[in-house]
Amino acid sequence: MQRNIKEIISKMTLEEKAGLCSGRDFWHTKGIERLGIPAVMMTDGPHGLRKLATNDLDLETSIPATCFPAGAALACSWDRSLLNSVGTALGKECLKERVSILLGPAANIKRSPLCGRNFEYLSEDPYLSSEMAAAHIEGVQSQGVGTSLKHYAANNQETRRLLTDAVIDERTLREIYLASFEGAVKKSQPWTVMCSYNKINGTYGSENKYTLTDILKEEWGHEGIVVSDWGAVNERADGLRAGLELEMPGSGGEGDKKIIKAVQSGELPESVLDKAVERLLKIIFKAADNLKTDFQCDMNEHHRLARKAAGECAVLLKNEENILPLSKTGRIAVIGAFAKTPRYQGGGSSHVNPVMLDNAYDEIVRTAGTDTEISYAAGYKTDIDKSVFGNKPFVSLSDEPDDALIQEAAEAAAKADTAVIFAGLPDSYESEFFDRKHMRMPEGHNKLIEAVARVQKNVVVVLSNGSPVEMPWIGQVKAVLEMYLGGQASGGAAADILFGDVNPSGKLAETFPKKLKDNPSYLNFPGDKSKVEYREGIFVGYRYYDAAEVEPLFPFGHGLSYTDFEYKGITLDKKVINEDDELQVSVMVKNTGSTAGREVVQLYVSDTKSDVLRPRKELKGFEKVELMPGEEKTVEFRLGKRAFAYYSPDKGDWVTEDGEFRILVGSSSRDIRLEAAVQMRSAVPERKVFTRNSAVSDIMAIPEGREYFMPILKKAFGDSVSEEANKESGSAGELMLAETPVRQFLMYAAGGFTEDMLEELLAILNKA
Ligand code: BGC
Repeated sequence: MQRNIKEIISKMTLEEKAGLCSGRDFWHTKGIERLGIPAVMMTDGPHGLRKLATNDLDLETSIPATCFPAGAALACSWDRSLLNSVGTALGKECLKERVSILLGPAANIKRSPLCGRNFEYLSEDPYLSSEMAAAHIEGVQSQGVGTSLKHYAANNQETRRLLTDAVIDERTLREIYLASFEGAVKKSQPWTVMCSYNKINGTYGSENKYTLTDILKEEWGHEGIVVSDWGAVNERADGLRAGLELEMPGSGGEGDKKIIKAVQSGELPESVLDKAVERLLKIIFKAADNLKTDFQCDMNEHHRLARKAAGECAVLLKNEENILPLSKTGRIAVIGAFAKTPRYQGGGSSHVNPVMLDNAYDEIVRTAGTDTEISYAAGYKTDIDKSVFGNKPFVSLSDEPDDALIQEAAEAAAKADTAVIFAGLPDSYESEFFDRKHMRMPEGHNKLIEAVARVQKNVVVVLSNGSPVEMPWIGQVKAVLEMYLGGQASGGAAADILFGDVNPSGKLAETFPKKLKDNPSYLNFPGDKSKVEYREGIFVGYRYYDAAEVEPLFPFGHGLSYTDFEYKGITLDKKVINEDDELQVSVMVKNTGSTAGREVVQLYVSDTKSDVLRPRKELKGFEKVELMPGEEKTVEFRLGKRAFAYYSPDKGDWVTEDGEFRILVGSSSRDIRLEAAVQMRSAVPERKVFTRNSAVSDIMAIPEGREYFMPILKKAFGDSVSEEANKESGSAGELMLAETPVRQFLMYAAGGFTEDMLEELLAILNKA
């Protein structure tokens, strides 16, 4: 419906305009009847709808909805079209419940494996994270339902999330933490972006003009609105000025009063408020126009999609002697209480009341058929605690080893041909609101696996967890299948993979370190009382493990299949590129096994020589291809400037350097199969500015500099001084000389080099 928004704003009172900038209650904006402005509803998110049954806060349950795999799992699919389908289904469920905006996806970078909310987040890599978020957003928004890309930005921990100051250098912020949002904003224009609770370099996410206006709105061109994370507003008028349009939930009119006062006192120009209202109205009317009455969707179909998704996200980490897939005959001991009481989602605001719920045990029995004898032993206890944390259900499970249950499980395992153990992390180990203290699984789970492995040589471990765990037993088991928190159909998907009805194709979207101490943020997580310094800089995840040559337990991008893929014939369409050129890369991938399968072809770019510190390689492309046995396909990538650039804080821009870049294509970050080189010719050759602190080597590198400076060098150090004082290698004396600032020759050449001469030399050099 066409409306004249400017005219509507002109009819609004100051109070109405200020009022529109905060919520009516926990989940709605305010409507203004006399002007035909409706209230719209937004709710969680991200991987399922959590719409509370009433507006009360003290509620354990929400309206039943499909619980899809959590973000940590979804990202392991590396499949844009899958994320799009899940998003589309989520959008439909929102329409069914008359919800206009779904609060997600969550694109914070996994800086540490300890972050309690990693299960909701996508990846340690900004490119993968932003591509997955973009596809999710496109899916939801294809239904006329908005999204809220959250939590912008640098909310990488739960500890003191409302207070802490994330101190991040500009290059790291741009290349890692903002880039994860940037791609998604530019590609798919989420209707809303949710600001984070924390401070970013000294200023709250809710009143940070640099991130909200300068970058998000002006640089990236975000057209929608910024909504506060629930309760993230500090000073409301400062927030509005910085670019925060909507405060959620409302603050009982307190925030509105502050806006009114600021406008009346002249401290806040009314035009700033009008601009915010204009953005708000565009979204509110779009939301209202897209709402449907009596919209229905097929929840059985969504359950099937949830099962397919969980199957595509699962990562086969280890498969010695091809123990998987299991045959549908013989005796299988299914062990672990998670097999019957699944751990399939995380705690906190994303907690969904699932409309259906598979359990792995029943699905295994059904899938294995009548020729398989299946036994079960719990192995550990699942004490479900029905307490409620705030308005969010919270479940805790006992993690103490129970020797009797372990003994019983070992006996069952000993009588079987194979033991399949379901283990991982209970809810009490990871959730919104707190971070993990360590990377271990409960002692009871580890002991169970070890006890079973002592009596049974064929052990398969199926993990349910939201982020990496240490695996002290890894050498004692033949297979590990990482299901993450795979949603309501996770149990069925596990059965599909265990028996080979689905060929696994997930790849890790994060590194699994051997131990917590290997992680680059280890010494600076979660920081002190007031701040957390991101001292590892850009070296997050595999960028660090690669550079420091730390062997991970499982590397970024790793994931096995029941078939094999051969990579051959990499071709680049150009040997030399300018930074504005697009480079096309193509490779052939062939399924050389006897099972149909899907492979994630990963492309990394490596700058072979740089003036700045760069990661050894960075993910810049990926495609998932499906191949029948014997089939081969060409996979193509297009790389633009950003695939080669780093962010230069000095220039305030993305910069490419001249020289060779290597294009690496492979099956994981540590399994590179093909390589090729391309020469970059930067559009604007770097112009050096010479100062009194320029090094002798830089001056001697320029003919005009050499001509002027050589006599001064000789005056200072005698005729034997080398002409080669511009070399990076040489004697200790030459090296020392090469690295000396030119101003020091006022002292070395004592009178033979004066301030006037220095000025003259700099003028010559800066002109040259
Ligand atoms: C969370 C958000 C969530 C919001 C509404 C906050 O505590 O950080 O992710 O969308 O609550 O439930």
